[in-house]
Amino acid sequence: MSSSSVMHIAIFASGAGSNAQKIIDRFRSSSHIKIALIVCNKEGAGVLNIAKTEKIPSLLINKERFFKGDAYLPELKEHHIDFIVLAGFLWKIPLALIQAYPNKIINIHPALLPNYGGKGMYGHFVHEAVIAAKEKQSGITIHYVDELYDHGNIIYQATCDIDEADTPDLLAKKIHVLEHLHFPRVLGELIELQNRS
Ligand code: GRF
Repeated sequence: MSSSSVMHIAIFASGAGSNAQKIIDRFRSSSHIKIALIVCNKEGAGVLNIAKTEKIPSLLINKERFFKGDAYLPELKEHHIDFIVLAGFLWKIPLALIQAYPNKIINIHPALLPNYGGKGMYGHFVHEAVIAAKEKQSGITIHYVDELYDHGNIIYQATCDIDEADTPDLLAKKIHVLEHLHFPRVLGELIELQNRS
């Protein structure tokens, strides 16, 4: 925990940032959890507009420094970051970051891991594969992040039924509802749990 009694969270995102927005909303008036930084790897991503609107500092990162440099650890330290939340962040997390934040980096995946995860399995690719496999259910997985894609210990899963008429887009909508419903709450519970231990 950083010097103050406030838990400083960095949200890493590459896209629209709807999960980031829900997390920001959830902790807006929290006295002990602060969304202190938005880290993004894609210029013009929707999540950067959210950071601007919410007056949360943002950091646009590049591949070279992230993977071959210091993984932006100095900036994370400068913002007193204690915990990292991946909310649609499409790069793997470098070992330097995982070692600096043991059991303090979590991710949300739009399927029921360990199935339908790994490199290249993101966004519509996931939903297309699930429907092509004629699965009767899909869902979300919130998990700790390790050095492999979508591989760390599972923290929480929620499921939804897949109907005959479901297309990848319709399934994506069902999954987003689950994400927005559960991610902020599970994050809050996890931080409470870690603070108590
Ligand atoms: C979500 O579907 C999440 O499961 C995946 O990336 C997507 C991010 O969506 N990891 P958004 O940018 O939060 O809207």
